[in-house]
Amino acid sequence: MSLNSIGALVTYCSPAGATRVAAEAIERTLRSLSVNVASFSLCAKEGRETALRVFQESRGRFRLLFVGSPVYGFHPLPAVMEFIRRLPSLDGIHTVPFVTWGGVCSGSALFEMGRALEKKGAILSGAMKIVAEHSMSWAFSNPFCGGRPDRKDASRIEEGVKAVHRKVEGNDTSSLAPLDISTYTGDTLATMLEGGFEKSKARLPRIEFDKTLCVECGQCAEVCPVGCITLNPTPAIGEDCIRCYNCAKTCPEGALTADFSKSEEVIRTRIEKLREPQETTVFV
Ligand SMILES: Cc1cc2nc3c(=O)[nH]c(=O)nc-3n(C[C@H](O)[C@H](O)[C@H](O)COP(=O)(O)O)c2cc1C
Ligand code: SF4
Ligand code: SF4
Repeated sequence: MSLNSIGALVTYCSPAGATRVAAEAIERTLRSLSVNVASFSLCAKEGRETALRVFQESRGRFRLLFVGSPVYGFHPLPAVMEFIRRLPSLDGIHTVPFVTWGGVCSGSALFEMGRALEKKGAILSGAMKIVAEHSMSWAFSNPFCGGRPDRKDASRIEEGVKAVHRKVEGNDTSSLAPLDISTYTGDTLATMLEGGFEKSKARLPRIEFDKTLCVECGQCAEVCPVGCITLNPTPAIGEDCIRCYNCAKTCPEGALTADFSKSEEVIRTRIEKLREPQETTVFV
């Protein structure tokens, strides 16, 4: 059966919008190849449930699955990993993990996603790491990787999708190994994996709340991608906070803030130390 009559599922979590832009570029390319595409955001619980239900109910129709996440402190977001863990067996399904990263370090994110997909029996047909503006940069004087993904990044994404499409159409069931799609290996990779997302989160600036400034407008809860803000009527931030800072960025009164005074220097030092080329890379 040709891929065109089967279809592809594009799933992603995108707190600040760059991973969604990458997902849309993937969708456009697939549609240009006459592939039927359905796409879902995984950030909120409801989105994950819907994507899982659609995938389960239409088993056999989706033979190609793209799963995307931003890199947060080396790792993919928990919502994305939870989605992969809850998927049924992916035996015979072609999968493509993709990440967007802010030009600092793509970390162990693709490796972790590839390993989880492989555990499900999936064929790892490709992977992509896509450079995007660093989503913490709005707080800095100069954004890191501002303007990315640009046209060159977009054409790399297109090439990657076309290469995967050729593999699937050609019934090429050879699978990449998680290490084939990992920029880091050995001790460096092991150190990055240590402690997972929670360890990285603990190092990120906390959200501070000043009740005296809050006008109870509710905008913070509206922009929280994981739905972890409860309005009572002032906001309370739950344990599932991923430190995306959308709430602090949006609060019109400055009632929600984070101390980024050391972050810019920390990021700059890491870029200089790791020297990971700030290029969008396709693994096929
Ligand atoms: C809390 C946080 C941690 C981040 N950690 C990294 C990182 O370790 N390496 C990196 O290159 N970019 C990092 N970034 C930048 C994001 O990976 C990048 O901006 C991504 O494209 C955001 O995707 P989104 O716009 O879909 O949310 C981080 C951003 C935030 C907010
Ligand atoms: S956005 Fe700011 S002012 Fe509005 S409810 Fe949230 S904290 Fe309060
Ligand atoms: S509470 Fe704020 S920082 Fe935490 S996930 Fe929600 S929007 Fe992002």
